[in-house]
Amino acid sequence: MASRGQTEQLAGLLGRLAREGNVPADQFGFLPVSPQELGLLVRDGAVRLAEGLDLLDEGAIRDALPPSADAWLRDLVVFPAVDSTNSRMAAAAGSASVDGWVWFAELQTAGRGRRGRRWFTPFARNIAVTLGFALRSPPAALGGLSLAVGLAVARLLQSEGLAGVAVKWPNDIYIGGAKVCGVLIELVARADACECLIGIGLNVDLPENVRARIDQQVTDLRCQGVTTSRNAIAGALVRAIVDAVKGFKRRGFAPMRGAYDDLHLCHGKGVEIALGADVRTGRVLGVTATGALRVRCGEKVIEITGGEVSLRPSD
Ligand code: BTN
Repeated sequence: MASRGQTEQLAGLLGRLAREGNVPADQFGFLPVSPQELGLLVRDGAVRLAEGLDLLDEGAIRDALPPSADAWLRDLVVFPAVDSTNSRMAAAAGSASVDGWVWFAELQTAGRGRRGRRWFTPFARNIAVTLGFALRSPPAALGGLSLAVGLAVARLLQSEGLAGVAVKWPNDIYIGGAKVCGVLIELVARADACECLIGIGLNVDLPENVRARIDQQVTDLRCQGVTTSRNAIAGALVRAIVDAVKGFKRRGFAPMRGAYDDLHLCHGKGVEIALGADVRTGRVLGVTATGALRVRCGEKVIEITGGEVSLRPSD
């Protein structure tokens, strides 16, 4: 993982790469990881951008958004490299409202997943984005939001014609049993509102050397046959999340409950639930109106609310 200073130096080198086509490899020597691990190409002692990269572009993403998004959108940025779009926006949330901010990154040097895991974002391959929303609800009332977001992404993938799309509680998205997208939601509480940072990592074209570093079965959109450009996917994703949050603000998660159960990978199935060292087995009954997971464990029915839980199908 690179420090904030190293990440900024890297962003400068990526700018040079875009302008000049290549940069001597030794200039990347300050980084704790190799340029290859960041998704860059090294040939003849120089770092180059891979050919035919489908780079993100702020104008093209805006063009893919419906006019209705204009009322909310205040800041759309594509960073060449950041530590983590969530971390960077959380730092900014200390001094300003992040409502209407949408920050993408082509590369993350310290991308974060749920439960303290790392999230890999090699250069110009996937989608890494954080969207900021101000919600006038106390943090405790936001339980269903993370499920609403997962459901919105799953439906978006279905609309791309993909079969076998499922969501795993609370908001991991799978295709054919392999993870394609993860969501990390973080809250900044204020006196009058709660700033909600919705971070989404969607695998579009995950290089082999990055797959090898991930300890679970993963997939990406390209190997599932999706050819839509990254900019069009990025715009559609923003649109889907803005609509989902709008629906959640109006009516909460309750009306989405049935649709969520229908798409839930573990609905009606046996599961193993790990809450730290406490591991239980049970059968999933469904989700509640506030997004908790109801599981029958022997004679008892328990409701799981926290996101720091790991859920695994057991049958
Ligand atoms: C998970 O499934 O563990 C959640 C992954 C969330 C990754 C995204 S990528 C954009 C945003 N920035 C981060 O550091 N994490 C989220």
